[in-house]
Amino acid sequence: MIQRSGSRAPARSGRLRVSGIVLMSGLVMLIGGGLLVADEPRESGGNIPNMLRFHDPSGEFATFNLAGDIDTNNPFFQDLGTNGRRCVTCHQPNDGWTITPGHLEQRFRTSSGKDPVFRPNDGAGCSTQDVSTEQARRHAYSLLLSKGLIRVERTVPPNAEYTVLDTDNPYGCGSTANVSVYRRPLASTNLSFLSTVMWDGRETFKDPSGNFQPIAFDLRQQAIDATTGHAQGNTPTDLQVQQIVDFETKIFSAQVRDHEAGDLDDDGAKGGPVHLSKQNFFLGINDPLGGNPTGAAFSPKIFDIFDKWTHIDDREYDEHTAARRSIARGEKLFNTLQIPIAGVGGLNDALNVPVINGSCGTCHDSPNVGDHSLVAPLNIGLVTAEQRTPDLPLITLRNNATGEIVQVSDPGRALITGKWADIGKFKGPILRNLAARAPYFHNGSAATLLDAVNFYDTRFNLHLSQQDKNDLVAFLKTL
Ligand code: HEC
Ligand code: HEC
Repeated sequence: MIQRSGSRAPARSGRLRVSGIVLMSGLVMLIGGGLLVADEPRESGGNIPNMLRFHDPSGEFATFNLAGDIDTNNPFFQDLGTNGRRCVTCHQPNDGWTITPGHLEQRFRTSSGKDPVFRPNDGAGCSTQDVSTEQARRHAYSLLLSKGLIRVERTVPPNAEYTVLDTDNPYGCGSTANVSVYRRPLASTNLSFLSTVMWDGRETFKDPSGNFQPIAFDLRQQAIDATTGHAQGNTPTDLQVQQIVDFETKIFSAQVRDHEAGDLDDDGAKGGPVHLSKQNFFLGINDPLGGNPTGAAFSPKIFDIFDKWTHIDDREYDEHTAARRSIARGEKLFNTLQIPIAGVGGLNDALNVPVINGSCGTCHDSPNVGDHSLVAPLNIGLVTAEQRTPDLPLITLRNNATGEIVQVSDPGRALITGKWADIGKFKGPILRNLAARAPYFHNGSAATLLDAVNFYDTRFNLHLSQQDKNDLVAFLKTL
């Protein structure tokens, strides 16, 4: 259980604007938005000012660190492996602690495709692809460049309830025993609100008596696996792992300013990472199925950040008012829009209810954060053969007991548990700092937040009006 309380370091508001090309003294260098880290961090001793603002398409976002300025001597920023990769290589502070296609393209150009993010082991569609020339690299890293996807390879569990018959892998990683799938790096921020680590929950663990381990336990194992996997290194030391986890769990990231609505903590609103850092969280804090350990009932009101913008007096009308009203309507829609949830694996089948009259918050239930407050892998239908695009594999699985066949672009949690029922299940992720880190969903299939909203509109027959869509998107952009 993750319960945070107690004193916090005061916010230091370094309002250094970063645009285009900025060179900060010391080790962190931002070139056209791409973060480069010097080779010998100790000698340069740089840091990232607390609350440093970065631009994103709809405004600015910032990271608030409870420990003050971000110390880039932390092993998160250091080369712990053998291929030049650091955690920060794929978790960039100026990309909302993930990577985005625009900045990846810049990094490709300035390095001719040799920046450490471009490594064959899991940056390429398959590690066997030719990377000997720049042209070959552009081809091999096409999925990374277009959607920011990293190859994740999983061995089918020995006792799986299914057999993988075929993978139709466009890059030559066609093994049916070690299946390759392609996923977005999850943001390495706001982690103290997580119930589930990784899209498929594979870094979420239980103790011997069956209780979930504290988040720090999961993140320690995750940091070890990331170092040996992505960075092809040896196991980091206990101290390094501890320092990484200390760092990761003290940072909070969120949008702070919107081009149209202005400052997101203005006039009573509670946007931005400082407010977020004060948000309470524990496992099950707002579970819709009665899983709150305190016994408290589920509240469909997930977000209350922009409540104060619901009623802006006409006399106070200024250039921000229309946008603020739209954001407040979007927040209300998120909390109240009726969604007839049907055919969702992990919900409808688990409860044996064909249609659940839910809302966005049925699955995104953590107050003011939006991930699922309990471990609840769900199949919302992103990986079907119809949704699959030709740049992704199409994996054919046969149920060993019934002979049933399904085709998916990513089996999700079923690659961890071996269970047929877990095919296509992924966690409900945190919905903060979204504007900084398009594209969305585990496979980057939604290029914009409007695309994500349109997915739900079609999937659940919502028939949203254009204004409803605009309001929802306006709200999601400010998170
Ligand atoms: C090559 C790119 C790459 C590197 C380097 C990398 N990661 Fe990641 N990270 C990913 C991807 C991809 C995922 C999601 C994979 C999945 O869920 O299947 C991820 C997921 C995570 C998550 C899970 C967050 C959540 O919401 O569940 C954390 C935490 C994380 N990484 C931290 C780290 C740390 C710490 C390091 C360095 C030791 C690191 N990463 C290095 C690509 C990378
Ligand atoms: C039935 C459960 C469910 C409902 C209802 C639901 N979501 Fe989701 N949402 C998920 C899951 C699961 C994911 C992760 C899916 C994946 O990528 O595989 C997700 C992902 C997202 C993402 C992408 C986040 C990212 O980091 O990529 C956004 C944005 C989002 N949801 C917004 C919404 C909005 C807005 C609504 C209401 C209109 C909504 N969701 C309703 C389960 C749900």
